[in-house]
Amino acid sequence: MEYFSNSPEDTKGFAFSFSKKINCGQIIALIGDLGSGKTTFSKGFAKGLGIENTVSSPTFKLVSEYHNEFSLFHIDCYRLEDVNEFLIIGGQELLSNREAVILIEWPERIKPLWEKDWIYVYFEHDDKNSNKRKIIIKDSVK
Ligand SMILES: Nc1ncnc2c1ncn2[C@@H]1O[C@H](COP(=O)(O)OP(=O)(O)O)[C@@H](O)[C@H]1O
Ligand SMILES: [Mg+2]
Repeated sequence: MEYFSNSPEDTKGFAFSFSKKINCGQIIALIGDLGSGKTTFSKGFAKGLGIENTVSSPTFKLVSEYHNEFSLFHIDCYRLEDVNEFLIIGGQELLSNREAVILIEWPERIKPLWEKDWIYVYFEHDDKNSNKRKIIIKDSVK
């Protein structure tokens, strides 16, 4: 499905609604350029899970964990060299936690680990309007 967002608030609202359809153990890959809205989406998503702590970009650490009724792992692979680095620092254990919902920014870095049952969310800028984004959700890519 596709969604056209007109503002950061719009993206957050969309992610808030989207989070209501997600089950525990689900892994969601957020794919898009710098500034395309992955972290903005994550904020709205977390709020939808009842997580009020400020969700920020976890770029300087691999994972931020939030706990409420659901646990949320917000993973950012931006600084990883490759999938091996992810595995060395315990990435596989993170992904195999079925008690949490997992959001992954820059999942391109760990492409060999992509699975059929992940949800893939693509973020695209608009050439003409800097406040518009196209958000495309694919249930399966492999
Ligand atoms: N429709 C929109 N959706 C999301 N972010 C938007 C939108 N329009 C403008 N922005 C801005 O784009 C930037 C997105 O940043 P961020 O969510 O951190 O991106 P990423 O995590 O993909 O690098 C923010 O500065 C935000 O205010
Ligand atoms: Mg980000």
